[in-house]
Amino acid sequence: METKLEKIVSLAKRRGFVFPGSEIYGGLAGTWDYGPLGAELAHNIKDLWWNHFVRAHKDMYGLASSVLMPEKVWEASGHLEGFSDPLGEGQRFNLMFKTEIGAVQQEKNAAYLRPEIAQGMFVNFKNVLDTMRPALPFGIAQIGKAFRNEIAPRDFLFRVREFDLMEFEYFVREAEWEKYFEFWRKEMWAWIEEVGIDKNKTHELEVPEGDRAHYSKRTIDFEFEYPFGKKELYGLAYRGDYDLKRHMEHSGVDLRYADLASGGKFIPHVIEPTFGLGRTILAVLLSAYAEDELGGEKRVLLKLNPKVAPVKVAVFPLVSNKENLVAKAKEIYKNLRVAGGWKLGAAIAFDDIGNIGKRYRRQDEIGTPWCATIDYQTLEDNTVTIRDRDTGKQIRHPVEGLDKYFEGMLG
Ligand code: GAP
Repeated sequence: METKLEKIVSLAKRRGFVFPGSEIYGGLAGTWDYGPLGAELAHNIKDLWWNHFVRAHKDMYGLASSVLMPEKVWEASGHLEGFSDPLGEGQRFNLMFKTEIGAVQQEKNAAYLRPEIAQGMFVNFKNVLDTMRPALPFGIAQIGKAFRNEIAPRDFLFRVREFDLMEFEYFVREAEWEKYFEFWRKEMWAWIEEVGIDKNKTHELEVPEGDRAHYSKRTIDFEFEYPFGKKELYGLAYRGDYDLKRHMEHSGVDLRYADLASGGKFIPHVIEPTFGLGRTILAVLLSAYAEDELGGEKRVLLKLNPKVAPVKVAVFPLVSNKENLVAKAKEIYKNLRVAGGWKLGAAIAFDDIGNIGKRYRRQDEIGTPWCATIDYQTLEDNTVTIRDRDTGKQIRHPVEGLDKYFEGMLG
């Protein structure tokens, strides 16, 4: 019998969510490529995250920093020394991907693909201070790729060598770190619920001192019950003033915050919530995947939050061999794509292949929340049937205002 993970991996491949990386050459371990539906899902999740954590907070500043960073950054951050896994025989193996910049292979040109995106936020701390003049507390957020030469990549999207992170550094006064640690802890739970991860399968773990990253004074891991065990989904760390202090020492640049109230200068402390995108997608798929029976037929469905579903509405003519029905369905499809604007946009599908039952099944399997069917009654009263993915319930709605209806449903 196929396990739930095997079912999801096969659905993801078959329906264009996730393909093994470089597959026609036999694949590259630890890499996965997002297909047409997976890329939409990933974009929707990143948008939702950016809205939730950046745009909704007036004290949060966005950033998009470089993947390539010089050796000095990783000396200062401690990754050159401390970011390693044990091999046998007492050796340690650094997880960073090293590369050389320029034609001449000299050590001074060494650079690394960033193993975490956090350092981009720290090295730009002064730039953000100087350009935006924020008052404490404030945050710097970004979404981007990180690379780790994992010794044993495994479990689909769970442990890979190249992945997207969504993360921010929230700079606070030392005396206030606990208050903001709690604030972001609650916001992380709100996000888990919003994106569609099963809260009952998510648990906090207070990471004991010996197991914490080299920079952290307190860490909570948000663990998820994956089919292969309860493992880390997200992290919330109190990094103290470790990073800014180290970068100040190593770069010689003053990274202190000038406090207008007291006239003093000090290094802010940092709270860091971090979210792996691949693990989010895996947890979302595991939470949304369901098998049930509807109208006496077995089906597979993804109960995705409509906001992240790659297709929001599928438009069907009831039958494909009646020209007037097909023409009307195509007209409604076209209008919906245009009128739906950025909220719906390209996320409208058209399908007239096979019978209507099969088309519903195909949409259920990719998590499309609504199907709009154009039938004979449409030609009489200009209404369509809207079918709900989860309940299978159908309502009739006028063609007029259909876009507003779906926009309202999307919230
Ligand atoms: N700046 C802090 C930081 O990078 P981390 O716990 O090393 O912390 C952050 O990584 C998040 O990245 C994790 O919570 C997890 O979601 C994700 N992650 C870490 N390693 C990963 C890997 N090899 N494959 C996929 N996701 C990974």
